[in-house]
Amino acid sequence: PIRACLFDLDGVLVDTAKYHYLAWKRLAGELGFEFTEQDNERLKGVSRMASLDILLSIGGISPDDDTRLALAEKKNGWYVDYITRMDESEILPGALDFLKELKAGGMLVALGSASKNAMTILNNTKLAPYFDAIVDGTKTVSAKPDPEVFLLGAQELGVDPAACVVFEDAEAGIEAAIRAGMRSIGVGSPATLGRAGAVVSSLREMSLRRLEKIFSSR
Ligand code: G6P
Ligand code: MG
Repeated sequence: PIRACLFDLDGVLVDTAKYHYLAWKRLAGELGFEFTEQDNERLKGVSRMASLDILLSIGGISPDDDTRLALAEKKNGWYVDYITRMDESEILPGALDFLKELKAGGMLVALGSASKNAMTILNNTKLAPYFDAIVDGTKTVSAKPDPEVFLLGAQELGVDPAACVVFEDAEAGIEAAIRAGMRSIGVGSPATLGRAGAVVSSLREMSLRRLEKIFSSR
């Protein structure tokens, strides 16, 4: 039986992709090239430095390591300006109700995010109290699709990976769940999340009952 639910943050519980996009776009603008919303899709679930490298490859430039670090810090400064102004209104539809139902039903809940800014977001949106364990980019070494972030989450909860379900909007996140030996539910489009155990368009479609139904036959 399922004992724990592990959630990605960006794109699953909150819509921060738009803020990442605005900050990356501003950086590209300063560097003198365009950065589109379509380009931004490639950065979902990808760590900060790996995102920067993708952006720089789009611009066709390859600065040295010190410059790259400074650019990533600059982008993060703008991003932090946006997220410090976030509140509960930016929780994605269905997320809060589902978290409440999980807690009431005795399910353990963990966060598994690549972001080093996860705590700021959880505090500002008042989501922090729903988590029994929080694993973010400050605690991990390897980025998704490496399973580290989810395995650490299961370990902190004291739950066997086989009894965990991961909720993810990024292909790399579903891959990480599979490598962790966990079940997964994609939040988004079946076109990119086809490897997940099931795909929903938003957490509005989720309930404890639905969760049990999806995995009861496996
Ligand atoms: C999440 C987002 C990515 C972001 C990464 C690192 O995975 O989906 O777009 O690059 O976190 O976030 P950070 O806040 O540490 O820059
Ligand atoms: Mg995500």
